[in-house]
Amino acid sequence: MGRATCLVVAMSVALLFAATTGLACDEATDSQTSLTGMTEATADDGTPADGRAMIPLPAPQPDGPVSLEEAIRVRRSVREYSDEPLTLTELGRLLWAAQGVTSDRGARAAPSAGGTYPLEVYAATAMVTGLRPGVYRYHPREHALETVSGGDVRAGLMEAGLGQACIGDGAVDIIVAAVYERTTERYGDRGIRYVHLEAGHAAQNLCLQAVTLGLGAVTVGAFSDEQVRAAAGLPAGEQPLYIIPVGRPAGY
Ligand SMILES: Cc1cc2nc3c(=O)[nH]c(=O)nc-3n(C[C@H](O)[C@H](O)[C@H](O)COP(=O)(O)O)c2cc1C
Repeated sequence: MGRATCLVVAMSVALLFAATTGLACDEATDSQTSLTGMTEATADDGTPADGRAMIPLPAPQPDGPVSLEEAIRVRRSVREYSDEPLTLTELGRLLWAAQGVTSDRGARAAPSAGGTYPLEVYAATAMVTGLRPGVYRYHPREHALETVSGGDVRAGLMEAGLGQACIGDGAVDIIVAAVYERTTERYGDRGIRYVHLEAGHAAQNLCLQAVTLGLGAVTVGAFSDEQVRAAAGLPAGEQPLYIIPVGRPAGY
């Protein structure tokens, strides 16, 4: 194939992707709605019509003294933390950076192939001021938490994570999980790659946000999927991809 033909083929593929992505933005807003059942089912006070209690998170604040360049430069994996709790505002800002809604059309902080939004983000909390230890599902559209279960599950997650102490020591363990079908329905097997890339985008956003908040975080990929699912109470269709312990760095 000549260079000119290659260029035409590449541009056609790019245009096709952009076209489906553009379509998907609208469709994703709808499909996201039907997937979570949240938008139509949510009452004005944030309580879904099906009775699930939602805990609103403080609104994200787009300010801060740390530049993006500084956050990128300073970020390191931090695995040792103090016992000082996080605030609910800090937890909200971490979750918003990972998957928060950042446009009126429902687009999120991290890019998503075709706007299919396969990720579900959970916070397994132990030391967050004003929040009982438990597992919470983040609802991006409402910027709110839904209680999945009560109690500190860090020990179970640590065991699932081959005994890595950072998982047991973080004030909160963020779990990034995925529903592959949301993306593979549109892109076939290649969607699996897209889901993994998206998890990386979300995790990096969260890690950089942790830096801006003076927090430490580490992206953990070594764990038993089944054990994480059991410890956190994830639904059968969700695959855990990352555990990200976050806390105040020890010695600060
Ligand atoms: C996909 C992935 C999986 C990882 N899994 C673990 C893990 O299971 N445990 C851990 O302590 N660090 C884990 N890390 C963090 C790396 O060890 C760390 O990023 C690397 O040593 C570079 O150091 P830095 O993050 O401080 O730049 C993982 C990183 C990536 C990208």
